[in-house]
Amino acid sequence: MTQDELKTLVGQAVLQYVTPGEIVGVGTGSTVNKFIEALATMKGQIIGAVSSSEASTARLKAAGIAVFDCNEVEELSVYIDGADEIDAHGYMIKGGGAALTREKIVAAQSRRFVCIADASKRVRTLGAFPLPVEVIPMAAHRIMRQFVALGGTPTLRLQDGKPLVTDNGQHILDVVGLQITDPLGFESMVNQWPGVVTVGVFAHQRAQVCLLGTDEGVKTLHFE
Ligand code: 5RP
Repeated sequence: MTQDELKTLVGQAVLQYVTPGEIVGVGTGSTVNKFIEALATMKGQIIGAVSSSEASTARLKAAGIAVFDCNEVEELSVYIDGADEIDAHGYMIKGGGAALTREKIVAAQSRRFVCIADASKRVRTLGAFPLPVEVIPMAAHRIMRQFVALGGTPTLRLQDGKPLVTDNGQHILDVVGLQITDPLGFESMVNQWPGVVTVGVFAHQRAQVCLLGTDEGVKTLHFE
C-alpha cells in the first residue's frame, strides 16, 4: 500500500474513537485530513470539533462540521492527531505542519490522545525527524545556539524564501542531529528556555493509543 493509502486507512479506522453527541479534538496534517473526510460522514452525530490549526478549521468548516473555540469547552474525551515520529511509549515528535503549539494545547485539554500514523512514523528513539520548535523571533538566534551546544543543527523554517509565520505569529526552528533518549526531561528542559513557545516533543502530552497503518492492516498500539 502507498503511504497515502495507509493514511486513508487509519483516518477511517479512528472513527471508532469518536463518540456520538460529543465534541472531538482534531489535529493537523495530511493524515488528519483523511480523518476529517471520514468524520464528515458522521457530522450529524457529533456536536462539532475543537481544531488545532487554521488549516484544519477551514477543512472542518468546509465539511459542514461546527468548530468551537478551545475556551468554550472544558474537556474533550478524545484528541485525534498524526505524528512525525512515535516511539514505544507513545512519546512523539510533532510539528512538521507547524501547528505544534495549538496541537499541544488541544491535547492537554483532552483525556485521551489517539495518534494516527503510517508505519514509517514508528521509531525506536526520537530525533531522526528534524525537531520543530516554535519560537518568538527575537529569541531565535540564542535558542539556535543553545541547540548547537546540545549537538544539534538548527535551521529557521522558510516558506517562499521568508521565515514561516505560524498561526500564532511566531517562527519555527527545525533541529537535526538530536537523539532524544529522555523525552520527558528534554521537553521540560527546552520548554523553559526563554523565547521557546513550544518544543515539538510530545511526552507530557503523549499518545495513549496509536492506530498504525501497515501493509497487514491497522495495528492498535496501547500505551496506557
Ligand atoms: C502538524 C503535525 C502533524 O501531525 C505531523 O506533521 C504529521 O503530519 P502528516 O500526517 O502530514 O504526516 O504535527 O504540525
